[in-house]
Amino acid sequence: MASSLILETKGLCAGYGEIQVLWGVDIAVRRGEITALIGSNGAGKSTLMRVLSGLLPMSAGECFSEGRDLTGGSAAEILGHGIVHVPEGRRLFGAMSVEENLLMGAYLRRDGRAAVARDLDQVYATFPRLLERRRQAAATLSGGEQQMCAIGRGLMSAPLLLMIDELSLGLSPLLVEQLVAALRALNAKGMSILLVEQDVTTALDLCHHAFVMDMGRIVREGSGSELLADPIVRDAYLGVLQE
Ligand SMILES: Nc1ncnc2c1ncn2[C@@H]1O[C@H](COP(=O)(O)OP(=O)(O)OP(=O)(O)O)[C@@H](O)[C@H]1O
Ligand SMILES: [Mg+2]
Repeated sequence: MASSLILETKGLCAGYGEIQVLWGVDIAVRRGEITALIGSNGAGKSTLMRVLSGLLPMSAGECFSEGRDLTGGSAAEILGHGIVHVPEGRRLFGAMSVEENLLMGAYLRRDGRAAVARDLDQVYATFPRLLERRRQAAATLSGGEQQMCAIGRGLMSAPLLLMIDELSLGLSPLLVEQLVAALRALNAKGMSILLVEQDVTTALDLCHHAFVMDMGRIVREGSGSELLADPIVRDAYLGVLQE
């Protein structure tokens, strides 16, 4: 039976050469929700995102999106299906302007200039800072502005699911707050988001549902509030000692 999950993995395994990193990962991402993936450094979160976006092959397991089998799909096929990856480190085209970077996100779209122009306006409404700096070279943006530009570029592909790796890395608390507010607003309009976030409190506060990864395996899952109250999660990831 076709599932309505926007993304579902079953027994997903992957690694680099001889080194296996992911060991049978099962996750389920529901449409319209913010789903978080948390876990310590080296747990395999970015590796999972690379596999989900087709940048790294899986060695075993399956991946589906709304009943469609994406197992073994190329990065272009997965992007074409609407699963978009905002990678760790942002990866903008440094010499190109903010607007050129944003428009790069739309290059696979076939729904016409008017729709692209409308979405560009929408990105500028979400991140007014990008409008002010639309002609500036991306390499000269601050870290926070680069993150806005990277997320904006993802949005310009009109994604089914926006996957963001390390939303807050290197950003000031105020900027993180602004980005979190922007993601909440996007989600309120229906955007589905899969978020990898080092700041566990921010992630669990923002998400509907979260998965905890440790050493390449999903070790826990639940709603954000359930996991925030979970003594094991608090002890391991929030530095709160159990009584
Ligand atoms: N290109 C690569 N070649 C070999 N090993 C890699 C490569 N990229 C990652 N790894 C290894 O895979 C494991 C998982 O790394 P990954 O980047 O997925 O972790 P992560 O959960 O995203 O960590 P962080 O929170 O630090 O970003 C680590 O042991 C890492 O050293
Ligand atoms: Mg990572």
